[in-house]
Order: sequence, then C-alpha cells, then structure tokens
Amino acid sequence: MKAILVGFMGSGKTTVGNLLAQRLGMPYHDLDDIIIQRAGKSIQQIFDDNGEAAFRQLEHEALVDSMADNGILGTGGGTPIQLTNFEILRQSQIPVVLLDVLPQTIMDRLKDDTQRPLARELGLTGLVDLKGQRDDKYEAVSDFRIATDRLTPLEVVDEITKKT
Ligand code: S3P
Repeated sequence: MKAILVGFMGSGKTTVGNLLAQRLGMPYHDLDDIIIQRAGKSIQQIFDDNGEAAFRQLEHEALVDSMADNGILGTGGGTPIQLTNFEILRQSQIPVVLLDVLPQTIMDRLKDDTQRPLARELGLTGLVDLKGQRDDKYEAVSDFRIATDRLTPLEVVDEITKKT
C-alpha cells in the first residue's frame, strides 16, 4: 500500500481514500468492502448473525491480506483497536494517516446511519465516548493527523499528498 487511512466512523476515510487513489492513479481498497465481499453479507448482517468477535476476525484477516497490495487502504473505525492490528499498523513502513473529526461532526454525519451497527447500538453520546476511548490508539498508529472538520475531501487529499 502507498498509504493507510485510519480514524473514527464518519471521519471520511472512504470518501478521501477514493479521491486520493484517483489522484494518484492507483486502486482504493476498503477493508469494510473486502469483508462484505468475502462474507457475502452486510456488516450489520455479520454482527447480527455472527457477532462482533467474528467480524473482528474477518477484519484482521482482511488487513493482513491487504497490506502487500498496491494502492490506498481505508480501514474501519475499529481496526487499529485490536491489538494484533495495532501492532501491524504501528510497525508498518507505509504512511498511516489519521483523519480526525470533532464529536459534533461525527454526530451530524452519522445521525441517520443504518449501516453501522455500533452507531445504532450506542447512540450519539455513546459514539462520542467510544471515540474518546480510541483516540490514543489512533494517534499511536499514525504518522500524522489531519483535522477534517473544516476541509473539503479534496483539501484533505491535498494535505495528504503534501505530507507523504
Ligand atoms: C466500526 C467501524 C465501521 C465498520 C464496523 C465497525 C467501528 O467502519 O468497520 O461498523 O468499530 O468503529 P467505518 O469506520 O468505515 O464506518
């Protein structure tokens, strides 16, 4: 991979990742999409049928299998939190970019979301708590952080290309 994007749900990883990949003329890989393809069902359905632990196992396998591919990788919001993934990301030679957002921005972006099991379970204040618990790990695996709240996705892409 040329770069790996990490950050909480709603931070723009997929949107920015696609644009960045286009800009660099390389493919975009999204861990959530790889998992959906492999499992043949949605993430919500995997959580409902098999539970979160099964989802995390699929996510870990997808990360391991993707690291050597060419392109940009968008991770899921929980990917760096699993210890094995944390070590893979922290030790990788590939630039890891943290896309960060303010709690209010997350709330605005996820308020009508039906496809994110954790957003549905936790509600908005629960999501903000979860982000607070995860922030140290996001910081620890990443090489630099971009606050995306006031930037358009293309401006975020500009920032990333300047720094990588
Ligand atoms: C999750 C984030 C989601 C997805 C799953 C769990 C999390 O990815 O992997 O719903 O634990 O934060 P996005 O960050 O792409 O929404």
